[in-house]
Amino acid sequence: MSASKDMAISLNRQYVCPEKIRIFHEIGIDLVIGRREGPYLYDLDGKQLIDVHINGGTYNLGHRHPEIVAALKEALEMSLDIGNHHFPSPLRGEVAQMLIRLSPGDMKYCVFAAGGGEAVDIAIKSARHATKRRKIVSIDKGYHGRTGLSGAAGNAKTAAFFLSDRPEEFIAVPFNDVAAMNEALEKQDAAAVILETIPATLGFPLPENGYLAAVKAMCEQTGTLYIADEVQTGLARSGKFWAVEKFDVIPDIIVTAKGFSGGMYPVAAVILSGKAGAWLTEDGFAHVSTFGGSEIGCYVAKKVLEIVSRPEILDHVCRISAYLADGLKMLQEKHNFLVEVRQCGLIAGLKFAGEMGAVLMSKALYDNGVWAMFSGYDLSVLQFKPYLFIDRPLVDTLMERLDAAIRACAS
Ligand SMILES: Cc1ncc(COP(=O)(O)O)c(C=O)c1O
Repeated sequence: MSASKDMAISLNRQYVCPEKIRIFHEIGIDLVIGRREGPYLYDLDGKQLIDVHINGGTYNLGHRHPEIVAALKEALEMSLDIGNHHFPSPLRGEVAQMLIRLSPGDMKYCVFAAGGGEAVDIAIKSARHATKRRKIVSIDKGYHGRTGLSGAAGNAKTAAFFLSDRPEEFIAVPFNDVAAMNEALEKQDAAAVILETIPATLGFPLPENGYLAAVKAMCEQTGTLYIADEVQTGLARSGKFWAVEKFDVIPDIIVTAKGFSGGMYPVAAVILSGKAGAWLTEDGFAHVSTFGGSEIGCYVAKKVLEIVSRPEILDHVCRISAYLADGLKMLQEKHNFLVEVRQCGLIAGLKFAGEMGAVLMSKALYDNGVWAMFSGYDLSVLQFKPYLFIDRPLVDTLMERLDAAIRACAS
């Protein structure tokens, strides 16, 4: 290991994230990211990795997409900075209009945030104000971030770790369980249901036929708002602009973050129906975020939206994800160790045998030049999400490396 990598690890162990370093070290992964470009990450010592974790969708367009890098440089040259949330901003207005036009239903407003957790907090606050109800229904081991309300809407155990769980206000039900959702909503006291369209940290279980539409129908019957957390699934990865569109759901609120930033400048957003966003006409200072919708961030996000809304992108995602599905099917037929493929467009979860199957695969793939991460709440499922521009030769390379990694694990 080079001295510079060793120094990076020891400084982070001492001052930043000792426990994370211990865990990855135990698995045998000592990645310190150096150069990065397109689908590739390079370890500080030069090892190349194909990135199919893409930080949960942050690198939806790949690393340092040239148009995004150019946009960021342009923003700086145009003498933009964070801006000031007190005043109108041409860029915030334009990006809000683009998001609303790209969203299903009758969205009316857009509130910007600095990250996904803050955006989820805004979504929950909006729903509570609109309904004058406090209860929020989410799914068991969903993940919506780690800020106050977003953290409380996720795994109760993690919220409790910081004494921030609110069991009387946040109810979790199993995913794909219509009866449990009905029971949680029938008292007509819930402000919102918040759902990742395909829950990533839970291991990408796909919504069963009609499940999301049934939840939306129950929301309508009970006066509950539907919040679609599209932080990981949005921005064309599923083959539709928002993954909810694949499942015939028109949400009241959509949350976007991660890839919305182009992986280059932090920015997130909440898209709101007229009812959900009515508070914006009542109290302009009810939510304030100095960095939320920074003008540099909006300039970058505008370029992201321009790129992902090009018609050829969705065509490409549909064609290449079918090719990926064929490759994964062949691997599954060959190896019993790969027990299930969960795929929707370029969102894929690969379930391996054994409780820790995906942890073994993360390490074996790392040794074979691929960075793919296990799902935090189901260590048997590997998160496998290539960037949007993946082509057939790269899919072939990934299939060869998956094959080699599976053989290494199985032996
Ligand atoms: C589905 C989902 N929602 C929200 C968030 C929170 O985003 P952030 O980490 O930017 O706060 C995440 C982050 O991983 C996420 O995966």
